[in-house]
Amino acid sequence: MRALAERSAPPDAFGNAAREYELGRPRWPHELIDLVVRELELTVDATVLDLGAGTGKLTRDLVPRFAQVIAVEPDDVMREVLEEVVPEAEALAGSAEAIPLDADSVDAVFSAEAFHWFASDETVAEIARVLRPGGGFAIFWNIEFGEPEPPMGEAVESLLDEAFARGGSPGLPRVLSGAWREPLERSSFGLLHEATSEREVVRDRERWLATMLSVSSIASQSDEERLALATRLRELVPDVEYRWRIRTIAYWTRLDA
Ligand SMILES: C[S@@+](CC[C@H](N)C(=O)[O-])C[C@H]1O[C@@H](n2cnc3c(N)ncnc32)[C@H](O)[C@@H]1O
Repeated sequence: MRALAERSAPPDAFGNAAREYELGRPRWPHELIDLVVRELELTVDATVLDLGAGTGKLTRDLVPRFAQVIAVEPDDVMREVLEEVVPEAEALAGSAEAIPLDADSVDAVFSAEAFHWFASDETVAEIARVLRPGGGFAIFWNIEFGEPEPPMGEAVESLLDEAFARGGSPGLPRVLSGAWREPLERSSFGLLHEATSEREVVRDRERWLATMLSVSSIASQSDEERLALATRLRELVPDVEYRWRIRTIAYWTRLDA
């Protein structure tokens, strides 16, 4: 398994590639969402927050499960896409450092592919502030991407490696380092539980390319660099369907009641 998200960069890069992000990135596995919902004893009348919601990849699967879904996202372009794709959610500008909600106002906070960018004592206290006593916090990450089938070849691999290396500080090592656990351990949240799931993702060349361009270390590069990369990849990669296995991990914990 190859760690794709290993090569990602500062979170403010995502807005540059919001459309690619929406086109290329996979949704979150239903069975893992359902498991977390059960474990956190969340019911359909719950109010939940998707924090760092991006284009709403998780938000769209919270909407059918809960009475009220709020999505907080700092990037205007990502949030614009979310408003278009998931109009049923209440999209708010804001950040984990300053969540634009009242104290004790939500039953659970979800954060998908985002918490590693902002995990701190400050943001964990802010998450605890908006949660009702006993409320849940759920975190999702895609942690492993298998090799594509059919393989794309060495030239594509090394072109991508070079492009990723030009980008900013990496994302997945932050996830795997477990450093994000520390502010949770110092907080009034309880034990952290975890579960993983694996699934296959199928992409044609354009959606695969969109995924690559949405990786933040590429999204943060200039339009010229991104266009040159896309052109070269279209030359190298045959336009057929590709399959990967992706491993996703979910963590969940509850605030002391
Ligand atoms: C990789 S995207 C994940 C988007 C979405 N949750 C998903 O499931 O695909 C990371 C998101 O975190 C947001 N983000 C970065 N820093 C943040 C902060 N301090 N507070 C809240 N969101 C933040 C970014 O703007 C970006 O939309």
